[in-house]
Amino acid sequence: MPIRKGVIPAAGLGTRFLPASKAVPKVLLPIVDRPVIQYAVEEMARAGITQICIVLSHGQGAISDHFAPAPELEAVLEKAGKTELLEEVRRTETLADIFYVQQHRPLGLGHAVVCAADFIDDEPFAVLLPDELFDPKDNFLGEMVETFEVEGASVVAGLEVPHEEICRYGAMAIEDLEVEPLRILSLVEKPPLDEAPSDIAIVGRYVLEPAVLALLAKLPPGALGEIQLTDALDILAREGRLLGKLYRGRRWDAGNKQGFLRANFDLAAERPDLAATVADLLGRPVA
Ligand code: UTP
Repeated sequence: MPIRKGVIPAAGLGTRFLPASKAVPKVLLPIVDRPVIQYAVEEMARAGITQICIVLSHGQGAISDHFAPAPELEAVLEKAGKTELLEEVRRTETLADIFYVQQHRPLGLGHAVVCAADFIDDEPFAVLLPDELFDPKDNFLGEMVETFEVEGASVVAGLEVPHEEICRYGAMAIEDLEVEPLRILSLVEKPPLDEAPSDIAIVGRYVLEPAVLALLAKLPPGALGEIQLTDALDILAREGRLLGKLYRGRRWDAGNKQGFLRANFDLAAERPDLAATVADLLGRPVA
């Protein structure tokens, strides 16, 4: 069955960006001139996903405003002959069919996915964490979808990280690193360095069979009352039903300030109108 549906969880508190994220949802902060969530929706569209459910929390209505038609703004742009801007604005409104569901309390990524259960409706689906930005020139999610279709098993994205950093991620225990897609034996969340089964971290892209929802529903809440997606995926892995695909492209963790700044600099440097400014800034001595 082709993958048509995708879920983008965006209901977290975004505490690492306070106070900016107090009134403005973290995923609406811009990287160059597009909000973080738009990169996520565009990536899903590139992968052939046509129906997207964004999981929101209270007070995040501005996210749906971003993708909704804006007739007054469009009329002003049209009248002023600002055709390129008009096309950009219209493009945001037609990327995919976007639906919204509320997660009333931030009870974890697994819980956010369960909130989209009615939307998923027993179909395979993709999950994309918007603050993990993958190179917008790549279509890695599309490759994951292809692997899902060929292999008939759920697929998660893996990234080789420096050994000393694996303790910050979920780590994969893998049958044979030389064989791709990777056969994942189990997953360990934030392992102590000496217990990490590999240096391959799970990073925010998933293509999942709908059975994951039933597994999530049965999980007892973990630390802090949160329901973790990794725990459900560990069950799949132990049953031999989880594959990993290694991402070798550029990735930014835009959920923290360092990664967010880097993404802005790196992507601005690729824009003809901004490259000179970035070069100028980077050439300056550090204050
Ligand atoms: P993060 O833990 O990176 O984001 O969750 P956060 O909780 O918003 O940020 P900090 O740590 O407080 O700064 C990864 C993704 O999962 C979503 C977040 O919105 C983010 O996109 N998420 C997380 C939910 O939708 N619901 C949750 O309960 C938890």
